[in-house]
Amino acid sequence: LARSFSTSVGRQAAIKHVTVIGGGLMGSGIAQVAAQSGHNVTMVDVSEEVLKKSQANIEKSLMRVAKKKFADKPEEGQTFTKEVLSRISVNSDPAQAAKSADLVVEAIVENIDIKQKLFKTLDENAPQHTIFASNTSSLPIKDIAKATQRLDRFGGLHFFNPVPVMKLVEVIRIPETSDDTFKSLVAFGQAVGKTTVECKDTPGFVVNRLLVPYMAEAIRMLERGDATAKDIDVAMKLGAGYPMGPFELSDYVGLDTMKFILDGWSENFPDQPLFKSSPLLDKMVENGKLGMKSGEGFYTYNKK
Ligand code: NAI
Repeated sequence: LARSFSTSVGRQAAIKHVTVIGGGLMGSGIAQVAAQSGHNVTMVDVSEEVLKKSQANIEKSLMRVAKKKFADKPEEGQTFTKEVLSRISVNSDPAQAAKSADLVVEAIVENIDIKQKLFKTLDENAPQHTIFASNTSSLPIKDIAKATQRLDRFGGLHFFNPVPVMKLVEVIRIPETSDDTFKSLVAFGQAVGKTTVECKDTPGFVVNRLLVPYMAEAIRMLERGDATAKDIDVAMKLGAGYPMGPFELSDYVGLDTMKFILDGWSENFPDQPLFKSSPLLDKMVENGKLGMKSGEGFYTYNKK
């Protein structure tokens, strides 16, 4: 058994250089954890200006990690932060950045046309061995992958926000994903310190497929007047042991994001009642009540 295991591991190409496309909330987190675990990283975004902001965000996040990890030795913490940052280079040209990649992780805007266009360029420029993965939350991996000629080297790596803190990554395979590719993706997820779970290319994968309809149900419960938002949150925290209630979580995720996910799924599965948005959610989004980021959702927040 041990031998067959090592043989199968041996066949996979080790992932040393990771190119992360998108330096936003998720991309900068993915770049950070990859660099923290010793990978060489290239981070790509639309301009040098955006990339500077992403680097500054990563530095802030690393300083928080260093403060905890090297509580008694601030100098070592500084060295750690510098070292990790030095492993992340930036580039605003995805074609060029693809050339050195063993793995490309895409975390750009959630739009199928823009993602397909990007992957076509990447496919034309990346070496043969390069594996592609998307961090999409709500689009089918197969629809993104079909812009490329490397379906066997394509999969999903779905991280959670905030990436440096959340312990899970869902590894998604499409029917064409080869076993070697899948193993490499799992190994990469583990190398960056996450626990991996495997899921087919189905709407929402595991976590969002259960969580998003649950949050939509909570909104429908509020709409019917069965209970208040506050009481539903207290009930789910104390009665089900959830760390956040459904309304706190909706405000954190963003109500526009929730509606976007539900509407996208409903378009593909119009008969699935669990994927329906609700009049209250629609109205709040229309009125700009998007949750924490807009200062008001089901609760109000002090805008930073
Ligand atoms: P974001 O808006 O914070 O970042 C997206 C970044 O991509 C921006 O910096 C933007 O300038 C850049 N970008 C847009 N088009 C580009 C292009 N053609 N080439 C290079 N860069 C481009 O978005 P966020 O939240 O980081 O989401 C990114 C992806 O991750 C989406 O697919 C989303 O569904 C997925 N995701 C989001 C989660 C979340 O909690 N926000 C959780 C898990 C996945």
